[in-house]
Amino acid sequence: MNDLTKRLGIQLPFIQGGMGNISEPILAAAVSNAGGLGTIGAGTRSAAEVKTLIRELKTRTDKPFALNIPISVNEEARALAQLAVEEHVPVVSLSAGNPAPFLQKLKEHKKAVIVVVSSARQAVKAEAAGADVLVAEGTEAAGINASQELTTLTLLPLVCRAVSIPAAAAGGVSDGASFAAVLSLGAQGAQLGTRLIATEEAQVHQHYKDALIQSGEQATIVVGRRYGRVRRLLDTPYARMLERLESEEENDARYMEKTDEESHIRGAVHGRLDAGHTNAGQAAAGITDHPPVRVVLENILHGAEAQLLQASRSLSSFSTEQL
Ligand SMILES: Cc1cc2nc3c(=O)[nH]c(=O)nc-3n(C[C@H](O)[C@H](O)[C@H](O)COP(=O)(O)O)c2cc1C
Repeated sequence: MNDLTKRLGIQLPFIQGGMGNISEPILAAAVSNAGGLGTIGAGTRSAAEVKTLIRELKTRTDKPFALNIPISVNEEARALAQLAVEEHVPVVSLSAGNPAPFLQKLKEHKKAVIVVVSSARQAVKAEAAGADVLVAEGTEAAGINASQELTTLTLLPLVCRAVSIPAAAAGGVSDGASFAAVLSLGAQGAQLGTRLIATEEAQVHQHYKDALIQSGEQATIVVGRRYGRVRRLLDTPYARMLERLESEEENDARYMEKTDEESHIRGAVHGRLDAGHTNAGQAAAGITDHPPVRVVLENILHGAEAQLLQASRSLSSFSTEQL
């Protein structure tokens, strides 16, 4: 146990990222039942739809879970916060917007609140507003990222130094080595997105899982910089088409249309990689299989232990005394 797992009431230091159209009951239950924090990702769904998902999740697990509300993305963000209170959701994760007005209400109802940040400045503000846990998300991560595009390696120590509440790392964590790295940088846990898509329980099309596994080092490209909406996608002909549209001002409207929610559902859920976009983080480069969630989490934990032991042995072989 550490401060982060205690605050979230979980056994393992892993948080499932809120992923619109993907962080749904079967995957969330698998994460919670394996000891991590499963998450329902509200994405752009209505409060009524999310209520159904929460109720289904409750039939699949009696362990703590979270609701992710991407504040500026979901028009019903306030109603979702109210829903979290009414449905006794134990943890709420807030991203993509100013969390302060939400925090006040959620803390009145004694919710544990996670805030996703992409700078030390945001981290300080979130702590002052009452956040319990931070997720520091670097630009290796899948999906929409901050325009500063700080890497996890740079961002995480800045955040950990700036606040006294615990932080988890997001962006690039997929195995023991990467988890060991973020622990060394001061994180107490990790939020996983890409790695959890390539699992047995993720309810996405097999084409998406296979594409992640086969992707290799050049797995992702970034689009949307011109619109201030940086998006890391799996590198597919569809993503290359978006890149072309972005480079031609007359095609702005088409770009927006081709990155809408329907496009994400076509690509990710229906597996039509030629007809929709699929989010992916740089972590895809190291993914070679799609086992059950429990196996993924156990491998990350045990892999990190071995990695840190090896690093410690390597360090202790040096001495400055003879210099
Ligand atoms: C398909 C997909 C959709 C996502 N949607 C959201 C979202 O709605 N809200 C959010 O806070 N983060 C979202 N993210 C980011 C994840 O929650 C997580 O922080 C990120 O994927 C972690 O980095 P990784 O992909 O390197 O593991 C999404 C990621 C993916 C892969």
